[in-house]
Amino acid sequence: MCGIVGYNGAQRALPLVTEGLQNLEYRGYDSAGVALSNGTLDVYKRSGEVSALLDALPESADQYRGIGHTRWSTHGPPTDANAHPHTDCTGDVAVVHNGIVENYDELKSELEAAGHAFTSETDTEVVPHLIETALADGKSPKAAVQWAVGRLEGSFAVVVTMAGVDALFATRQDSPLVVGYGDDGAFVASDVTAFLEHTRDVTYLADGDLAILGASDGQTAGDVRIERDGEPIEPERETLEWEADAAEKGGYDHYMLKEIHEQPSALRQALSGRVDPDAGTVDLDLELPAEYVGSLEEVQFVAAGTSNYAARYAAELVEELADVRATVEIASEYEFDGGRDPWRTLVVAVTQSGETADTLAAIRKASRAGARTMAVTNTLGSTVTREVDDSLFIRAGPEIGVAATKTFCSQVATMTMLSVALGRQRGTLSSDRASEVLSDLRGLPGAVQQVLDRTDDVEEVALELADSDAFFFVGRWLGHPVALEGALKLKEISYDHAEGFAAGELKHGPLALVTPETPVLAVLTEGSRPEQTLNNVKEAQAREAPVIGASSGDGAGQYLDVEWPVPDAGLLEPLITNVYWQLFAYYVADSKDRSIDKPRNLAKSVTVE
Ligand code: G6P
Repeated sequence: MCGIVGYNGAQRALPLVTEGLQNLEYRGYDSAGVALSNGTLDVYKRSGEVSALLDALPESADQYRGIGHTRWSTHGPPTDANAHPHTDCTGDVAVVHNGIVENYDELKSELEAAGHAFTSETDTEVVPHLIETALADGKSPKAAVQWAVGRLEGSFAVVVTMAGVDALFATRQDSPLVVGYGDDGAFVASDVTAFLEHTRDVTYLADGDLAILGASDGQTAGDVRIERDGEPIEPERETLEWEADAAEKGGYDHYMLKEIHEQPSALRQALSGRVDPDAGTVDLDLELPAEYVGSLEEVQFVAAGTSNYAARYAAELVEELADVRATVEIASEYEFDGGRDPWRTLVVAVTQSGETADTLAAIRKASRAGARTMAVTNTLGSTVTREVDDSLFIRAGPEIGVAATKTFCSQVATMTMLSVALGRQRGTLSSDRASEVLSDLRGLPGAVQQVLDRTDDVEEVALELADSDAFFFVGRWLGHPVALEGALKLKEISYDHAEGFAAGELKHGPLALVTPETPVLAVLTEGSRPEQTLNNVKEAQAREAPVIGASSGDGAGQYLDVEWPVPDAGLLEPLITNVYWQLFAYYVADSKDRSIDKPRNLAKSVTVE
């Protein structure tokens, strides 16, 4: 989910590429770089925000071809060396990449054995070295790119420039790329925002398409040729109506809505190269010694806010799948209490930013007590990753909306993989059961998409109920953290009173608050003990509260005012339900014209205790 931009045309490339990077910075901001080419190739890159790169760039440069990248790390922390573009051994080939090369380990070993020297820890760097190999074998620049890309497994959008080759090459697989036709040059980018000020005339590339921008094969600079299966095609051109601000949000009104809709692709990225449902195995690249995992007595999660609710979901899964006691503590309340053997306790900090002060303080207490620590985070190179023994990345891409949405989803999915991995390593989870859970995970992006396809239904109900006195969310077991998260989302962005309860607790107090003006939203899926929860739903309905249920089975509908279907996904069904709750919260808040992306009094990352 990084940002890519490229230009080849009659204007100097540097200002156009840097302007594109500034427009794309919301896609990733841990490092950035530029490659400019004519007869030679110049590369500039820096860790940090695009402004750090700008300081390192020359004021002007003569080249008419250039590519740029703004990074959100998935492999290798954000350092100068890991910033894109990446080059080959000759320094004549530069590549920017978005996505994950799943077989990079294997390719890297092969290339190193053939004498290639690598200068970064990224998966991307295999691409320029593969191109170098093909060029050395006498392939044309275009054929070399095609050959190299043909060797990649995974998801990618790749743009290549080479010294002495008057063309940019761009191709994709499961990661967006769009070509823009300017008056005097052609653009390519991961997102139209990069070049919207110069053209609205675009072609979205399809998987496998190769776009050649510029003079290769007899074209003149500025021309674009698109090939599919080796043959030129007549590209479908469209004219965008979006304003720059809307484009940055992918056409959505708010980042939050965009990020809700990004969940299927974020999940694909989280799973990429990590699960094998047929074999029932998970590869998370962790270095947990088998002996340690086997002797674990407790997994202790520490986290704040939404991450705390993701951790509660995960703790239930660890108990269920890995058969080890799992507990969750609010980070600001954490102490490494007595009665625990630090050598047999794994303390896991769940934090999307990796910078939350409360969570960092908790993990430091655990380390001081001698426990092994792990971070589950979205941010490579964040403070937490430097303090723990192991880091597990959720790969959700940057989240701009203050209210966490896609990071919650990717945290739970990633910790589901962790639970399976622990269960397999401890020998407490059969390979059949692991296969089942992993197939459900594989199906998760599609299942979440099915919920997103019902956005209009959710909006309609949200608008009808927006003026209610309060909102109550209920669920059991895995549905309980989802109820808590549903209520948190709604209160954060709509400023309405919302609370989440264990469904069984409704009758022990909160029921006194239930009236015809307080909708109750219930998780009624597998993994949330739907039959018992239905009894609590009936209690609310008897008080004439409007009841909305997200359900995966039959039979609940007759007790509900609104029923939203949840696709079959076993233990992940409550997680899918959360997508309904996110959309509901969004449309309630939107109807009140709230500041959805930046709710009052809240910050994306709180770095004070
Ligand atoms: C802040 C944010 C919340 C977030 C919490 C934990 O309070 O407003 O949305 O859940 O921090 O953040 P973390 O980065 O540690 O997941």
